[in-house]
Amino acid sequence: MTDKTILRALKGEVLPTPPVWLMRQAGRYLPEYRATRAQAGDFLSLCYTPDLAAEVTLQPIRRFGFDAAILFADILLLPQALGADLWFETGEGPRMSTTTDMAGVNALKGKDDIHDKLAPVYETCKILSRELPKETTFIGFAGMPWTVATYMIAGRGSKDQAAAHKLKDTDRAAFVALLDKVTDATIEYLSKQVEAGCEVVKLFDSWAGSLKGQDFDDFAVEPAKRITSELKARFPGLPVIAFPREAGDGYIGFAKKTGADCVAIDNSVSPEWAAANVQKDGCVQGNLDPSYMITGGDALVQATKDVVAAFKNGPHIFNLGHGITPEADPENVTLLMETIRNG
Ligand code: CP3
Repeated sequence: MTDKTILRALKGEVLPTPPVWLMRQAGRYLPEYRATRAQAGDFLSLCYTPDLAAEVTLQPIRRFGFDAAILFADILLLPQALGADLWFETGEGPRMSTTTDMAGVNALKGKDDIHDKLAPVYETCKILSRELPKETTFIGFAGMPWTVATYMIAGRGSKDQAAAHKLKDTDRAAFVALLDKVTDATIEYLSKQVEAGCEVVKLFDSWAGSLKGQDFDDFAVEPAKRITSELKARFPGLPVIAFPREAGDGYIGFAKKTGADCVAIDNSVSPEWAAANVQKDGCVQGNLDPSYMITGGDALVQATKDVVAAFKNGPHIFNLGHGITPEADPENVTLLMETIRNG
């Protein structure tokens, strides 16, 4: 029986104080992250240098004592391993070569040909599984096929994911083949992370909210179900956290439909709504508005208490509704931790 608080919450236990970690907890709001990133040269070099990637994963654990560490990597490393070119434009975000038809999908590598490129990520996992404090849960992750495909199709991030919707609606065969390829590769990628020491996996579907009706079922629910069931067949008992961001009503029943142990909730819905409609089926993670990490003060304390109170009758992992931003003040994270742990 584990005494790690995150694993206990994921098994459905209601804890007196919710365990806590933050999306993007290793990141630019921390001066020590900026220093290590400068040492690596750039973001992708940081991801592919195991000692430094492990170091930035550990930094927020040392500073704040979070209950979980998330592997430092990026959801776009997988498409890169499949053969897409990937680079980051300073101040703008990711750029990628585009995959827009069946010939493009067929030109990508197969699911078993990704591991050479991703070997440094697995090495980072091995270092962390040795070096993390014994009470800290180690979370691996991948992007979900729809979200990853939106970047592969458009070659960059976009507000409305228009290019991906267009491919879905004009060349369904190529779109489905792309999602299937990413799904299969994601299963292999996450399996290696688990073999290298990750204790939980989180599936990031950041753009799930733009999938409506049947599309949500086909391209958010189904891939999550396939990935979850295959991972659980390979690693019995492995906990899975699913994050179909901005799914709205799509959050209802998501855990049951996919087999995920926990659903992460963004801050576009209230914690009271999520408690009534989602937590009734099991563990939830979330969902403080990340902007409180910039503004701080009494408003942060009150909003944090409200989230804790709303979820206190069921299994809950405290987190933000989305990643902490570069403008966040580390002092506000300290205040958040004091509020959660000391009431
Ligand atoms: O959460 C963590 O601390 C673990 C590491 C992690 C990163 N990205 C590091 C990162 C995780 C889990 C991700 C997931 C990720 N990456 C998602 C899904 C979650 C979400 O935010 O919705 C997405 C969509 C990406 C793709 C991506 N990576 C974008 C769009 C960007 C640019 C935007 C930005 O914040 O600059 C990145 C870069 C990125 N990934 C950074 C970090 C710390 C910033 C890079 C830097 O240091 O310059």
